[in-house]
Amino acid sequence: MSYYVTTPIYYVNGEPHLGHAYTTIAADVLARHMRQRGEDVFFLTGTDEHGEPVTQAAERLGITPRELGDRNAGRFRELARALNVTNDFFIRTTDPEHAEVVAEVVQRIYDNGHVYEGTYEGWYCPRCADFKTESELEEGNTCPIHKIELELEHEDNWFFRLASFQERLEHLYAERPDFVIPQNRYNEALSFIKGGLRDFSLSRARLKWGVPVPWDRSQVIYVWIDALLNYYSALAYARPGEDLRDRFWPATVHLIGKDILKFHAVIWPAMLMAADIEVPRRVGIHGFLLLGEHKMSKSLGNVIEPFRVVELYGADALRFYVVREVSFGSDGEVSPDGFETRYTTELANEYGNLASRTLAMIDRYRDGIVPEAPPDTALAAAFDQLAEVVRERLDDLELTAALDEIWRRIKELNRFVQEEQPWQLSKDDARAERLDEVLYALAEGLRVVSVLLHPFMPESAERLLAALGREDVSLDCARFGAVPGGATVGELGQLFPRVEAEAPAA
Ligand code: ME8
Ligand code: MG
Repeated sequence: MSYYVTTPIYYVNGEPHLGHAYTTIAADVLARHMRQRGEDVFFLTGTDEHGEPVTQAAERLGITPRELGDRNAGRFRELARALNVTNDFFIRTTDPEHAEVVAEVVQRIYDNGHVYEGTYEGWYCPRCADFKTESELEEGNTCPIHKIELELEHEDNWFFRLASFQERLEHLYAERPDFVIPQNRYNEALSFIKGGLRDFSLSRARLKWGVPVPWDRSQVIYVWIDALLNYYSALAYARPGEDLRDRFWPATVHLIGKDILKFHAVIWPAMLMAADIEVPRRVGIHGFLLLGEHKMSKSLGNVIEPFRVVELYGADALRFYVVREVSFGSDGEVSPDGFETRYTTELANEYGNLASRTLAMIDRYRDGIVPEAPPDTALAAAFDQLAEVVRERLDDLELTAALDEIWRRIKELNRFVQEEQPWQLSKDDARAERLDEVLYALAEGLRVVSVLLHPFMPESAERLLAALGREDVSLDCARFGAVPGGATVGELGQLFPRVEAEAPAA
């Protein structure tokens, strides 16, 4: 089965921050998990480089929008690398091949009769690159998101007949109750549609930085139309000489934050319908990380800056923290303190120490070879159906719930060590068989949780599996008892070392 997952393409008007890292991490978890299942995966991320916000940010810096794009696209690429993310391609809307596909599709929408010439008047927020309705405006005609005062703008441009797609969109939602998940976002999108759709302009006359309208080169295509098409255009040129659209379109899931729901859940499917292209299977929405300033932490300062966290604690720690801390789909606060607490109590103690103790005991009591023994029945019961449950949670985009299932088993293994006290068993020759069972169960439990953790924390999981002498990360082997004893264990070192506090960088 083919599986195509995307992140939003991020605006290059600013530097990447934790919010961007969040969606990219989540998409990587899904992509890696699907590869564990043997699926044919394509994972796309990239940057959105046209339009007014980018033009304005470049102006403020005294550089061209292209220069700004080059600079920040580079930063977004570095972020993906730092996070150990396995995207198959990085799209930039300034790629000439992208512009070609945009022009083709928009021309098709025009030829199909869904475009007309009109005059727009509305409250325009240049930072959103979007017009606001009267009801969305806040006091003093300000943008509800950016809090800046908006002006009433007039412009002759080309309109997309969004309103004429109302019925087809309602039909799509009726037919596909999981087109948008979670449910509350589905309801939100559907009620937006049912509230009545208005045509909107798909071009801009005032702006130069964008893809020219094919039949009227005095205008450029509206940045959102240009941007949304990245999901489709990338497949046309990501692999030179190959058209991946046959293999990966329609997309399996577009992962996005709740701020851009309307574009993805309403405008995007309507555009595709207008161009006779299949709509994606699903739009998955997550909530917002609340990134407020907090009291100073010793190592991280007062905000979580992804590059700095990765440099000090490694990518896995950050990947783990954001998925674990905030229930995927909801909003939630993150903080340097919260990060450090989870790093110490969960990663270093519950997982890291469990691993090093287990390996040390196998080394000391069994000459470094995992004993051959039947699987402990109580632990086997605790692990029963775990891989299946994780799989279901991830199919429903419940990343936090999936991780929670795995972590409950790590706690279970910790309890098991405390109860069985292998160091006591080792003193009594009559209990050698039980010691074999206990050590095998610990090695096997650690192996299973590590295979399941691999999409979340690839580097740590691989290190631990290598130390256990069992490197297979396919989901098929994530069953307690699936792999017999007999492996020779190796060195692990500290998975999550203490990070010495230092003065935060200025
Ligand atoms: O909207 N919490 O780009 P953008 C969680 N270019 N996620 C967050 C976040 C936060 N605090 N802040 C940002 C754009 N995000 C358009 C998209 S797609 C065809 C075009 C993430 O740079 C989240 O995924 O403003 C959100 O939807 C996205 O970054 C917005 O990125
Ligand atoms: Mg934004």
